[in-house]
Amino acid sequence: MLQNRRILLIISGGIAGYKSLELIRRLRERGAAVRCIMTAAAKQFITPLSVASLSEDKVYDDLWSLTDESEMGHIRLSREADLVVVAPASADLIARMSAGLADDLATTALLASDKPVLVAPAMNVVMWAHPATQANLALLEKRGVRRIGPGCGELACGETGSGRMAEPLEIVAAIERVLSGDPRLSGRRALVTSGPTREPIDPVRYISNHSSGKQGHAIAAALAALGADTVLVSGPTQELAPAGVQLVPVETAAQMLAACEAAFPVDIAVMAAAVADWRVESAPGHKLKKNGTPPVLRLAENPDILSRIAQRGNDRPSLVVGFAAETEDVVGNARRKLRRKHCDWILANDVSPGSGTFGGDCNTIHLVDAKGVEDWPLMTKEAVAARLAERIAASLAPQPARHP
Ligand code: C5P
Repeated sequence: MLQNRRILLIISGGIAGYKSLELIRRLRERGAAVRCIMTAAAKQFITPLSVASLSEDKVYDDLWSLTDESEMGHIRLSREADLVVVAPASADLIARMSAGLADDLATTALLASDKPVLVAPAMNVVMWAHPATQANLALLEKRGVRRIGPGCGELACGETGSGRMAEPLEIVAAIERVLSGDPRLSGRRALVTSGPTREPIDPVRYISNHSSGKQGHAIAAALAALGADTVLVSGPTQELAPAGVQLVPVETAAQMLAACEAAFPVDIAVMAAAVADWRVESAPGHKLKKNGTPPVLRLAENPDILSRIAQRGNDRPSLVVGFAAETEDVVGNARRKLRRKHCDWILANDVSPGSGTFGGDCNTIHLVDAKGVEDWPLMTKEAVAARLAERIAASLAPQPARHP
């Protein structure tokens, strides 16, 4: 499917540059034409000769080259591609992209591009986690730039965590998805819950939890990327609404249930929110005062949104997926939860204090259904979302769409 597709590959500086050489080979193998731009920093890591040999084309690196501009101007460079891929995308290039700079050939071509852009970030774990990098990426994603990775694991700098560039074949798969405008879930409607809920104690205080919403938001984005008409009902989080997703912000579990019910009928329901189990039974309309006697809060149980949705009658979604955040006997507890809540799949994950799942970028999932358990390796929450969306698309494939 990449036969005769034209990829403009922008290589920025990073040790992951060697993987870009492999990426060029994999793309060429599949019949794609690959034209490359290298930044000055990229040339510190891999040579233009290797890039030119593998791409079977000259390497573009100079904004001020009279010859290049007369043969193939920087505007044409990006316009004549079907897709612009930035791999590795360094923290610096991401920052320059988000600022809209055009101070070298790479950024100028990106700014002049009217084509989809896919970035594969690669950097040190602390640079990746830095609020500046995260804010820059969030802005780019809001503008429609797609992202693949980074993955988790050992980094070339010796540290461990997120920041490793996605593997070449993962990037190839992402390129194929972007270019195909993957339609596997088009005509399907999906409902996703995400984030925590906030249960008021009084008008200024509340009960909540540490859920970041990262996993639920990533799932909504992944379902939308496969063409599903996606509604994301989310409690308060720092996450931006993913592109192409309808976000319904809520605070309490009761509001979350009402918003979910309002989204029906849906074909797919993925309940990833960390819904507070209890609310204060009768929260006063005024701020509680300190008067020497701490108040006694009487709690009432919140509705279980997942079970309610899984036990709907005629309009039960074809697939209802829940999460089970456990600290012990992860799979055993997930199996019991699957039966108790009548859902089709449970994605169980370990949230014990050392796991780094809550608020972190990675997750280890066990997919439990009536037939058995599938253990997934440690993955980014984004990769978990993509894999789940793929599994959902595969499981719904034979059935006719409810919303043609
Ligand atoms: O019972 P527990 O909270 O462990 O169940 C987790 C699963 O149930 C998650 O999918 C969560 O979104 C969902 N849930 C819900 N409503 C609740 C509690 C949990 O939808 N009140």
